[in-house]
Amino acid sequence: MQKSIGREDAEVSDRFRVTEFDPGDALEGDGDDVITGLTEAQKWLPARYFYDDRGSALFEQITELPEYYLTRSEEAILAKSSGDIARRTGACELIELGSGSARKTRILLDAYAGLGHQVRYLPIDVSAGILKSSAGELLATFPALEIWGLIGTYGDALTGLPERTLPQRMVIFLGSTIGNLNNVEMAAFLAIVRGALAEGEYFLVGADLQKPIEIIEAAYNDAGGVTVLFNLNMLEHLNRRFDGDFDLAKFSHRAVYDRRYDRIEMHLVSSERQSVNLAKLDLVVEFAAGETILTEISRKFDLPSLRKRFAEAGFAAIETWTDPDQHFSLTLFRAE
Ligand code: AVJ
Repeated sequence: MQKSIGREDAEVSDRFRVTEFDPGDALEGDGDDVITGLTEAQKWLPARYFYDDRGSALFEQITELPEYYLTRSEEAILAKSSGDIARRTGACELIELGSGSARKTRILLDAYAGLGHQVRYLPIDVSAGILKSSAGELLATFPALEIWGLIGTYGDALTGLPERTLPQRMVIFLGSTIGNLNNVEMAAFLAIVRGALAEGEYFLVGADLQKPIEIIEAAYNDAGGVTVLFNLNMLEHLNRRFDGDFDLAKFSHRAVYDRRYDRIEMHLVSSERQSVNLAKLDLVVEFAAGETILTEISRKFDLPSLRKRFAEAGFAAIETWTDPDQHFSLTLFRAE
């Protein structure tokens, strides 16, 4: 980290504002989805619980793994397409969903800076720690950049955006995080994004593509075991947040591709019969030996059906770029 946000650096703070949605969130109320997920026949947990500060840091490590082709492929695509994108939108508010380290965003910001197009950057992330540290680094690199960070869920942030100060908006959703959503969730999500945009504004989406299963399964079962830590960390996060007693030694990582749904599924497998207590949720969960919690789906798309889903939600595809191996895709959509 080159620079962090501090009171002492007035110029940096002047260009950086933060809105935190639901600050009480961590302590009260929001565990309804955990209760729902852990009481269904196939237990599941929402993927956003991966991303406490440690989970976000572990995901950054995943993006560097030799097996995890997604980030490198998308970076290569952005390197060749960002000039076209910046030229098309002109001066623009860039609203990034799940901004994380914002490493790939830099490629876009470079393109806007190179063309002299003004940018206001609005990163949205549930992890305050990573949002603030990456904003600090971006402010240090881009002297004209203004940042308004939104800490919260996509839904809260997209329906509570600050007023426009530039004529154009583009929502950015990189990394194939859209693959975490099933069809029902995707339709609801696309409706929220569409609602945040005016006709003629833009939506830039990175989506992982279908390919030989061995390549995909290796990406979610890395030899170094980082994905294991990432998956297990969700239980640690729940322990802290909801006063739980998950014993991490009694769960193991499993990631398998399901051809029926064209998606990788990540599970946590209970090694034995056990019960787990989440005190703040008044919840006791019983596990049989071998029973699993589905912690994430990561869908792999084909471009025609992806475009069709977006079209149904009011987005027309303008252009799609892929890497030479056709592993990954980036599509610029326009709100109709
Ligand atoms: C950040 C959701 C795109 O699905 O590949 C990485 C998360 N999970 N390794 C993905 C993840 C396991 C990642 N996304």
